[in-house]
Amino acid sequence: MRYVLFIHLLGASVWVGGHLVLLFSVLPGALRRRDVQPVRHFEGLYERVGLPALLVQVASGIWLAGQWLPHAQWFGDSPVAHLVQAKLALLGATVLLGVHARLALIPRLDEQRLPHLGVHILLITLTAVAFVWVGAGFRFGGLY
Ligand code: HEM
Repeated sequence: MRYVLFIHLLGASVWVGGHLVLLFSVLPGALRRRDVQPVRHFEGLYERVGLPALLVQVASGIWLAGQWLPHAQWFGDSPVAHLVQAKLALLGATVLLGVHARLALIPRLDEQRLPHLGVHILLITLTAVAFVWVGAGFRFGGLY
């Protein structure tokens, strides 16, 4: 349990940290100079650690959720079940945003579409931060 939680926290650091750097350091410069290159460059570098980190989050998170609640109760009406449901909903949103970015935004990225990508980066960062908020909720027995 301790090792899996450790891995989960390590993956969370990579996922959330990477998106915060993208949102607050890479994107503002790219928008100011109307240049997509910094974003492309960052995506290229980050992909190699970011995607494995997300896969680690899913595997370790599902295992941890199983420790909190038997799978049959995940869609029940208890406070912990609501936390598991929130994590799964955030995962669904992350996958949709990721697929949309990879298939629709990144291949046709130019200066005009940069603000659109910016909104997208903001949304995915918000979901990443929300994952942490919901995660901390397990320790406190609820979302807030
Ligand atoms: C990028 C995605 C994710 C991030 C950034 C993330 C982040 C976190 C963080 C920071 C905690 C707090 C741990 C603590 O209180 O010590 C946590 C706990 C937890 N997360 Fe995630 N998480 C992610 C994805 C998932 C997924 C997909 C699931 C699957 C349902 C999940 C299930 C859990 C569970 C069950 C806990 C409670 C662990 C415990 O304290 O025993 N997480 N998460």
